[in-house]
Amino acid sequence: MEQLNWGELPFGYVKTDYNVRCYYRNGQWGELEVSSDENISLHIAATALHYGQESFEGLKAFMGKDGRIRLFRWQENAKRMRNSAVGIRMAEVPDDIFIAAIQKVITLNKRFVPPYGSGASLYLRPLLIGSGPQVGVKPANEYLFLMFVTPVGPYFKEGFKPVKMKLEREYDRAAPLGTGHIKVGGNYAASLNSLHKAHEQGYASALFLDAKEKKYIDEAGPANFFGIKNNTYITPHSHSILPSITNMSLVEIAQEMGLKVERRSIEIGELSSFEEAGACGTAAVISPIGQIDDLSTGQSFVYSKDGEAGPISTQLYKRLQAIQTGDMPDTHGWIEFVD
Ligand code: PLP
Ligand code: COI
Repeated sequence: MEQLNWGELPFGYVKTDYNVRCYYRNGQWGELEVSSDENISLHIAATALHYGQESFEGLKAFMGKDGRIRLFRWQENAKRMRNSAVGIRMAEVPDDIFIAAIQKVITLNKRFVPPYGSGASLYLRPLLIGSGPQVGVKPANEYLFLMFVTPVGPYFKEGFKPVKMKLEREYDRAAPLGTGHIKVGGNYAASLNSLHKAHEQGYASALFLDAKEKKYIDEAGPANFFGIKNNTYITPHSHSILPSITNMSLVEIAQEMGLKVERRSIEIGELSSFEEAGACGTAAVISPIGQIDDLSTGQSFVYSKDGEAGPISTQLYKRLQAIQTGDMPDTHGWIEFVD
């Protein structure tokens, strides 16, 4: 294999040796299959293609100093994928198939797990799609669950450096009673124009507002939002944001650091009172936010003037990463080894 430059990896697709697949047919899941083909063969009338019956997940595996590969909170990803399946009427993937797929795909692609200390990790991408044909708007009778892996570096090219974001006033990502709380492809399709425009304007991402009133912060493209003030970690409570496993974990880490935690609506005006702000997610880990621009009013909310992250975001980031790589003891039961 060509030598990968682990320290310089972007967040992108790298071909690995194998992926794993499992089909749901006649009301039951079949055996896990191993493939070295990057393509799938799909019926031209598959519901995934026409009606968006598609859900994906994202989780990471980390190489520890001890040479052991650690998985972070896979049960939460399995649970969220089941919720996504229920949300768009797909067959649910049982936990035993989910973890068997993880173990197999990592074991077969061990040489792609980035070394300890490189800052990179192995990103796992589980995917569930309606593979059976329908022409009327109906759920499929057949499903395909697959998982591939790719070694990745930071999601935002800045890494752990403050990024600029803009408030999104032109587009909604998810409807108030829609599918924003589950991880289905349609939400991401709906965000593409917004993110494209934000990138063109020089922003790392857009911050979506609540679709109903346009008064509250929802989330930041592919990551949840948090703000910090008065020793308190504050993160939005909304039906139309994805319940982030990273955010859930940061809430617990923040409490251990002696911070208070509030999960509640955050009005746009409150942005001016935060001392620090950030975006969090598996891919993004923590991306400190240095500045948020509201292009409709010309107002800017600035959290970093020196190009560095704030002290609390830095602590949160370090602790989370230390747990994930095994540098800090896993007192929560978040880590499982891949053997
Ligand atoms: N919000 C959205 C829209 C996402 O796509 C993601 C990524 O999965 C997150 C938040 C962060 O969630 P997690 O921390 O579980 O990766
Ligand atoms: C993740 O953080 O795992 C994501 O899924 C974000 C994005 C790449 C969609």
